[in-house]
Amino acid sequence: MSKLAWWQRGVIYQIYPRSFQDSNGDGIGDLRGIDARLDYLVSLGVDAVWISPIYPSPMADFGYDVADYCNIDPMFGTLTDFKQLVDHAHRLGLKVLLDFVPNHSSDRHPWFEESRSSRDNPKRDWYLWRDPAPDGGPPNNWLSRMGGSAWEWDEHTRQYYYHAFLREQPDLNWRNQQVRRAMNDVLRFWLDRGVDGFRVDVLWLLIKDAQFRDNPLNPAYGPGAPDHHRLLQTYTEDQPEVHEIVRSMRATLSEYGERVLIGEIYLPVPQLVKYYGTNGDGADMPFNFQLLSAAWNAGEIARMIRDYDSALPEHAWPNWVLGNHDNPRVASRVGTAQARVAAVLLLTLRGTPTLYYGDEIGMTDGAIGPDEIQDPAERRQPGIGQGRDPERTPMQWDSSLPNAAFTSGKPWLPIATTTSVRDQDSDASSVLSLYRRLLILRRNNAALVQGTIEHVAANGDVLTYERRYHDQRLFIALNMGVEEATVQTGAGVVLLSTLADRDGEVLVEGANRLAAGEALIASF
Ligand code: NOJ
Repeated sequence: MSKLAWWQRGVIYQIYPRSFQDSNGDGIGDLRGIDARLDYLVSLGVDAVWISPIYPSPMADFGYDVADYCNIDPMFGTLTDFKQLVDHAHRLGLKVLLDFVPNHSSDRHPWFEESRSSRDNPKRDWYLWRDPAPDGGPPNNWLSRMGGSAWEWDEHTRQYYYHAFLREQPDLNWRNQQVRRAMNDVLRFWLDRGVDGFRVDVLWLLIKDAQFRDNPLNPAYGPGAPDHHRLLQTYTEDQPEVHEIVRSMRATLSEYGERVLIGEIYLPVPQLVKYYGTNGDGADMPFNFQLLSAAWNAGEIARMIRDYDSALPEHAWPNWVLGNHDNPRVASRVGTAQARVAAVLLLTLRGTPTLYYGDEIGMTDGAIGPDEIQDPAERRQPGIGQGRDPERTPMQWDSSLPNAAFTSGKPWLPIATTTSVRDQDSDASSVLSLYRRLLILRRNNAALVQGTIEHVAANGDVLTYERRYHDQRLFIALNMGVEEATVQTGAGVVLLSTLADRDGEVLVEGANRLAAGEALIASF
């Protein structure tokens, strides 16, 4: 497997740092907490951790509002803790990826404080300032992704500034060359500290229309959808000039060798794949989020796999994401039984998988009481089900200890359920054991890492496909239904089934049974 880069061979594990492990009893996870759990990640079998933002921040959006791009928030620790974490991770063979948030800063970032201080401040143009419309209202109809107008009036300088998210998150002006240089220096700051790559926040939003034209109405908008869906995002996302910026980030990373650039991009596949650029000058992996919103049935997933595979440019390396901190957990989306099928799917598809902390123990969305709501998105638009607290509840380490051993204090969000790593650790039938078996299998079978994906098919509720590499041929069958099914196979051996007692079973050529909700990997 030597031709592949580490991020092509590896599996990425996302840590939401507030929720992983608290080390100082303040109820919020931190870097020392993560450090103390690295052995667990090694025993799980993942290769890289991506840590959501840990920079100094007023925490209006829990760290996605950065007040200093080159430091660590005291809540999470210090630069020394960070160095220890990176060194420890590297000794254990784990890579460390940071979350880079270049679209917007905090309104408390010194850059914005300078920018808003006067119209002729040298940093005025670092953000997007506009005069009011003739009636004194916002300059155009652009809407915030957190609800309401995207324009905030600044009484002191009598102009509006643009914020795609909260008013506490003013958008930077990426048409300004100084902003570009400053941000590339931020990348170097962390690369100099040994970081192995970045997940770039809202990469597809960085550039806005130079003429600030109104967005058109969205004819498909219906009640219950987030406010900003009233408009198409024609002039506020995926502008052609964004690709030049991606190239400059990629070039900066290339100064440091094999470092990975991952883009957070929610776009349809034909637009998404453009972010790969040409011949390796774009993002290494524009995140493929299709599984997060897929209708959970064999036909739909088969179509998705085929379409994605055929849309990828020749040099592009695929990737799949099953969960993250902005979407309901997989076990809540598809149910706990199908979450096991989803694990097999994620770890047998072609491309780099990203797992979200806690999914490996089947954590479900937590129930958040009205007094426990933390997410600003939910506070701004209550009741439309967009709140992200349920998928951000603390990692459950040991259900026999208070707060599942996440903290000795009061956790910032409630503990969601009673299962835990400790409960599942030595139970061969647990979700955790399934993930470990899958990760070992993946590591040991070149076909799963770099093989082709072929014969993707749906037959009733059963999804099947093959992974092939030289003479190795693996067959994967997933029963996405609630009834037993049969599947036509060649003669072979079961390498792994979600029913643990089938491992090693010899399959005869012809019809073989697949229990309800069973997924298996066989070798032919
Ligand atoms: C995407 C992040 O994943 C989300 O959590 C955040 O609220 C927005 N970007 C704004 O940074």
